[in-house]
Formats: sequence, structure tokens, C-alpha cells
Amino acid sequence: MKPYVYIGRQITNEAETFISEHCDYNIWREAVKIPRETLKAELKEADGAIIPKVPVNQELLENAENLKVISNVAVGYDNFDIEALKEAGVIGTHTPYVLDETVADLVFNLILSGARRTAELQQFTRKGKWNKMDDPYFLSKDVHHSKLGVIGMGRIGEKICRRANLGFEMEVMYYNRSRNQKVEEEYEARKVSLDTLLEQSDIIVIMLPLNEKTRHFIGEQEIQKMNENTLLVNASRGPIIDEEALIKALENKDIYGAALDVFENEPLASDNPLLQLSNATITPHVGSATKQTRDAMDLRAAKNLVNGVLGSGPVDIIKELR
Ligand code: GLV
Ligand code: GLV
Repeated sequence: MKPYVYIGRQITNEAETFISEHCDYNIWREAVKIPRETLKAELKEADGAIIPKVPVNQELLENAENLKVISNVAVGYDNFDIEALKEAGVIGTHTPYVLDETVADLVFNLILSGARRTAELQQFTRKGKWNKMDDPYFLSKDVHHSKLGVIGMGRIGEKICRRANLGFEMEVMYYNRSRNQKVEEEYEARKVSLDTLLEQSDIIVIMLPLNEKTRHFIGEQEIQKMNENTLLVNASRGPIIDEEALIKALENKDIYGAALDVFENEPLASDNPLLQLSNATITPHVGSATKQTRDAMDLRAAKNLVNGVLGSGPVDIIKELR
């Protein structure tokens, strides 16, 4: 008998076909996100599941008696309650590697648009204000040869360093618990203290996973160490920055600007002050959202699911459960 799995979100045909060759399955095909109660009911019989980005905790897992594998279509897995997974004996998986270059591209987009203010300038151009562009207000900030500070040096951080060092000849510093020899040798990156990074960088990129240690890692104190020329970029997880403190700093022009793909609460509320601030560049959590990469993530999540329930091949188990 084939295992039975539930697919709680839309996935590519290729990923669905792969699953269908190995498992019996059902799938949520609606464009709206699956209601939590429906997902919970569907998990009751399932040996494994692909889920949308929802909290996976004791409450979701309590009746999922057959469940062995829960497959996230994302590299980040802050939606997993690790203790609850351990308790339930369920393996949590994610999709590393396949999105590293794509997220690094988006980070560079944020660096460039944040520094050169292209989004703001586009609005001015569209409003017919071209002839006002002589105003020194529109002079922006260089990216090439500036100092880049990367907080959190994992695989995505490495790809950012490569672009920064080889493409833009930036001077790269990083803050990380352990040394990363690759970026030091290949991209002339220097490991520095957090204070040095905050004080000296022209552009700061946050590339940390979200967990209890990194929540509000960048708060008022850290922001105060930056200067009025600093651009702060975040495409990892919103709650790593104390958003209220950041908004205050942007309002006071304590820093040059922020370029953000992630927020404390997503989707961003329509009354969030960030939407009104001209020194904030905003995208809607699209770091990995290219056609090629999302296809690759779906397939990787499908393979994690199938290999996990069959015990038949490589599975990207999150590191806390290995
Ligand atoms: C997206 O945010 C991811 O973690 O893959
Ligand atoms: C992913 O978690 C990375 O930092 O590469």
C-alpha cells in the first residue's frame, strides 16, 4: 500500500507528478490559504504533508497520529515549534540551497534601490517631476567601493559577499558566531565585532534565521550605533529588527534608509508608517519569488516529503531534529 500524503497548498505540476508516482494524495487547490481547521482535519489520516506557511505546533499535530514528515516550502522554519515536533515524533523539513542565489539577487536589488532610491525616483518621474531633479535632495549614495556589513554568514551571506566583492568592489565585514573561511579567502571579508560592524558599515544586511536569540537582535541601541549614512537591509525575517525603533530612526533621519522585504507582521498593515516613509524601500516578502526558484523549491519540498515517508532518499531535515 502506498503512503497517503496531504498537500496543503498549490504546487507545480512537476512536484505533484513526483508525489503521485510514490504516494496516494489529496491537495488543496484553492487560491486562498487553507483554513487551519481544514488542514488539521486533513492531517489526521496523513503519513506526511506539505504545508503553507503556518504555525506547526502541538495544537496542529495533536490528532495527526500517522504523521511522520511535515515539509515546509521555505528555507526559514520559524513557523515550526521544534519541541512540539520532537514530542509528536514528526520530522520537519525545509528547502535549503535552491534559493540562495535568488535571495542574494533580491538583497542586491534592495541594496541598490535603497541606496540609489530608485523606487522613490520612479514615483517622482511618473508624477512629472523630472525637472525638479536638480535639487540636491535627490542626490543619493554610492554602493560600489562602500563598506558592507553582513550580520549572519550562512550560504546566502556567502552569495551576497561574492556579488559585493567581485562585482561592486565593496569592502566586506561580517558578524557571525563562527568564522567563515570561504568568504575571508575568496571575498576578502573580515570578521568583526557587532559594534564595529554597526559603527563602520555604509550598508548593513541582516541574514539571520529567526529564533528566540535573534528576535529584536537589532533594537534601538544597535540602531543608535549606526550613522546618518547607513542603509539597513533585511530580507531574512522581520522580527529580527525592532520595527518600532527602526521607524523612529527613519522618521528622525538617524540613518540613511532601510530596504526591507520582511516585516514584524505580514502582510504589512495598510496603516504601517513604513509605507509613508520616503527613506524606506519596501517589497512584499519576495526574496525567493522567481519562477525558476519557486519551481525548484516545490520539487525539493516534494522530494523531502516522499523520501521522508518512504525512508528512501535524502531529506532536508531541519538541523535541530537531525
Ligand atoms: C522564505 O522566506 C524562506 O524562508 O524560504
Ligand atoms: C540559510 O539559512 C542561509 O543563511 O544560507
